[in-house]
Amino acid sequence: MIEMKNISKKVGNKIILDDISLKIDEGSFVVFIGPSGCGKTTTLKLMNKLIEPTSGEIYIDGKPISKEDPIKLRRNIGYVIQSIGLFPHLTIRENIELIPKLKKDQTDEEIEQKTLELMKMVGLNPNEFLDKYPSELSGGQQQRIGLVRAIATDAKIILMDEPFSALDPITRTQLQEWLYSLQEELKKTIVFVTHDMDEALKLADKICIMKDGKVQQYDTVENLLRNPANEFVRNFIGSDRLWSTPEYIKARDIMIKNPVSVQSSRTVIQGMEIMRTNKVDSLLVKDKEDNFIGIITIKELRQNGIQNHYLSDIMNKEPLFVYDDNNLVEILEVMNRENIGHIPVITRYNKLAGLITRSSLLSVLSEQFLEMEVSVLD
Ligand SMILES: Nc1ncnc2c1ncn2[C@@H]1O[C@H](COP(=O)(O)OP(=O)(O)O)[C@@H](O)[C@H]1O
Ligand SMILES: [Mg+2]
Repeated sequence: MIEMKNISKKVGNKIILDDISLKIDEGSFVVFIGPSGCGKTTTLKLMNKLIEPTSGEIYIDGKPISKEDPIKLRRNIGYVIQSIGLFPHLTIRENIELIPKLKKDQTDEEIEQKTLELMKMVGLNPNEFLDKYPSELSGGQQQRIGLVRAIATDAKIILMDEPFSALDPITRTQLQEWLYSLQEELKKTIVFVTHDMDEALKLADKICIMKDGKVQQYDTVENLLRNPANEFVRNFIGSDRLWSTPEYIKARDIMIKNPVSVQSSRTVIQGMEIMRTNKVDSLLVKDKEDNFIGIITIKELRQNGIQNHYLSDIMNKEPLFVYDDNNLVEILEVMNRENIGHIPVITRYNKLAGLITRSSLLSVLSEQFLEMEVSVLD
């Protein structure tokens, strides 16, 4: 884990970083984002002691890095920068193996094996590339080598400062995918700087939004989209962002919260009366503890007449439902597949939480579009 505690950085009178405290969990992917000059690069450079803070301390796995030898520290922290930083006079193989060989904790065979593996992981044929020089590779290929080199050190932490911003969009998207799956597989702690919100949303577990040397919000992607801490964050993310990422819209955001429901011990006649007075054509059935146990429609009630006394006798005991944390994409998928106009929502503890109907969906979605149109007019 990396922990920054009350980190400030001043150069002369200028405050570059202002009292930053945050924790980065081991194996997580954290993205720093913010306008140019807000202090992202400075933050990263503090983590591998390329610069020292004016006050505060950074701990890595509980140890204050102020007491560590910077060279040793850097050998255990990969660093990838925009301008790639491959050594032009070394071959690709020499570039990748430079630090592992310096560290002397693996045999040459182990290092070579690792190089081959990593080359394949980033989609480059080792036979074709290892003996070439950086200038013989395209920008995207060089940046992949930069990634390989950072990972080849066996570092648990990799710092990446706008590593993809000089690449064309297609190469960038490819490398983002690679990095994401690399991280899934290798579980490195990655601290990644970008100024591109799309990139941040694609990659991050948590995002730290900065402005003028201050942290505006450090949060999970979902919380950031749902509860932006202030106006700056809201604008920075973009007001329509949540709605362009429907995975973050949950059943509980869309559902009617007090659907008409009844206890299963009610009689058929009572059920009909409740439907009539509430002007609904189906009832959600609960047991005494509010567990959702069934659904019954007006059609079923009429067909069965009153000779069956209780709703529990005739209700559909295996109703479809979605969980309150299912997302819009999943919900629409179920409703379309089953060709249904409404679906009950329950909690993970089986309690009835609400009901989604086509009109609740439509009203929520159209409200949002209305808001977007208004913000375009502003
Ligand atoms: N060595 C330095 N001396 C003076 N000012 C600096 C120095 N390094 C960075 N800065 C200033 O600190 C601010 C933050 O820089 P930086 O961390 O590079 O921002 P970012 O990476 O977010 O664009 C900028 O205003 C920059 O001009
Ligand atoms: Mg920078």
